[in-house]
Amino acid sequence: MANASGFFTPSVPSLRRRIQPPAGVSRSGFSLSERIFKRMVCSSTVEGAERHVSTSESRLPRLVSRGCKLVGCGSAVPALSVSNDDLAKIVDTSDEWISVRTGIHNRRVLSGRDSLTSLAVEAGRKALEMADVDPDDLDLVLLCTSTPEDLFGGAPQVQRVLGCRKTPLAYDITAACSGFVLGLISAACHIRGGGFHNVLVIGADGLSRFVDWTDRGSCILFGDAAGAVVVQACNSEEDGLLSFDLHSDGEGGRHLNAVMKENKTDDMLGSNGSVFDFPSQGSSYSCIQMNGKEVFRFAVRCVPQSIESALEKAGLTASSIDWLLLHQANQRIIDAVATRLEFPQERVISNLANYGNTSAASIPLALDEAVRGGKVKPGHTIATAGFGAGLTWGSAIVRWG
Ligand code: ACO
Repeated sequence: MANASGFFTPSVPSLRRRIQPPAGVSRSGFSLSERIFKRMVCSSTVEGAERHVSTSESRLPRLVSRGCKLVGCGSAVPALSVSNDDLAKIVDTSDEWISVRTGIHNRRVLSGRDSLTSLAVEAGRKALEMADVDPDDLDLVLLCTSTPEDLFGGAPQVQRVLGCRKTPLAYDITAACSGFVLGLISAACHIRGGGFHNVLVIGADGLSRFVDWTDRGSCILFGDAAGAVVVQACNSEEDGLLSFDLHSDGEGGRHLNAVMKENKTDDMLGSNGSVFDFPSQGSSYSCIQMNGKEVFRFAVRCVPQSIESALEKAGLTASSIDWLLLHQANQRIIDAVATRLEFPQERVISNLANYGNTSAASIPLALDEAVRGGKVKPGHTIATAGFGAGLTWGSAIVRWG
C-alpha cells in the first residue's frame, strides 16, 4: 500500500540551486521532522534573486511563497438520458431497487457520434471562460480519464481542439474515480514546483463503453460526463489547496477492474520447429468487473480516514469546512461518510441522482453545478475525495475562488 502526504517538494529549480537544504532534508524530499521548514520552503519561489542586496539585507534570496487557486469550472454531459425504467427494459431490475440502493435515477450516456474528447473540450472551454483565461495562456492540460479515445492518451487532442497553440504540455492521468483529485494535486505540484501559471484539469470518462449491459449489478451505476477546473498560480495568502492525502492499494484491485484481455494467438512454428506465440493477435479490454459489496466497504472505511487525515494536515476540523464533495458513486456511500465525519446533509453536495457514477468527471461536474447554482461561493472551503479502481483513493481540502 502506498500513500503520499499533503506537502510539496521544493519549488522552482533555481531555489534548489541557490539554497542548500539544512541537515535532515534531502534533495528529493523532506524528513517528517522537518515539517515546518518544509511547509515554508516547499511553497516558495525566488523573487529578486539576481538583484544586488544591501549589507543590511539577508544574502539569501528572498523567499516568496507561491500558492495555487481554483478560478474557473465547467462541465458537459451527453444528450442521451437513460432512466432506471429504461434499464429495467434490458436487465432484471426496477426503478425502486436502483433508487433505494444507489440514489441514482438517471444517467447520461455517449451515443452515436458523441465523443469523449468533445465533452472534455466543452467542459474545459467553459472553465476557461469562467476563469477569463485564454487557451493560449494555459501552460498545461491534464486529462484525467480511464477511457481515452486513444490508447496513447487523449490530452494532446483536447489541447488541439481547444486551440491552445502555445500550451507546451498536455498529458493524461489514469486513476479511475480518483483521477480528478490526483489531477488537482498534480496541477498544484506543477504550479508550486515547476513555475507553471495556468493549468486546466479535466476529469472525463465514458465508462458506458466498458459496462457489461447484461450485468444488473454494475450497469445501473455508471454514466458519462466531463468536468474541468482552471488552477492558477497565486501568492501564498490566496492559496486554495490547503492539504491532501493520497493512497493506492493494488491488492484491492481484484474487486474492481477492466483488465486487458489477450485475444487467442495461433501457435506459430519457428524456423527450428519450436512453437511460439508471437506476434500477439491484438488485445482489447474486458468490461468492468466489480464486487460491489467489497468496493462499498472499502469506500466507507477508507474515505473518512483520508479526509480526516487531510483535515488534520490543514489544521482544520469538519465543522469548519463549508462543503463535503465526494466522488458520486452511491448516495449510501456519501451518506455514510458524511455521518462518520458529522457533516450535516445540507452541507453535502450530491448530484448523482441525475448522472450516476461518472468516474473522474463526477467531482468537477458536481462542483460546477454547485458553483453555477450559487451554492459554493468564493472563499468557501470544500473537503473533496475520490475513490475507486486500482484501488486508489485520496482527498483534498480546497478553497473555491
Ligand atoms: N436490480 C435488482 N436486484 C439486484 C440488482 C439490480 N440492479 N443488482 C443486484 N441485485 C440483487 C442481487 O442479485 C442480490 O440478490 P440476492 O440477494 O437474491 O442474491 C441482491 O440484489 C443484493 O445484491 P447486493 O450486490 O448485495 O446489493 P448491494 O446492496 O451491495 O448493492 C451496489 C449493490 C449498488 C452495486 C452496491 O454494492 C454499491 O454501490 N457498491 C459500490 C460500487 C461502486 O461505488 N463502484 C464504483 C467505484 S468507482 C470506480 O472506480 C469505477
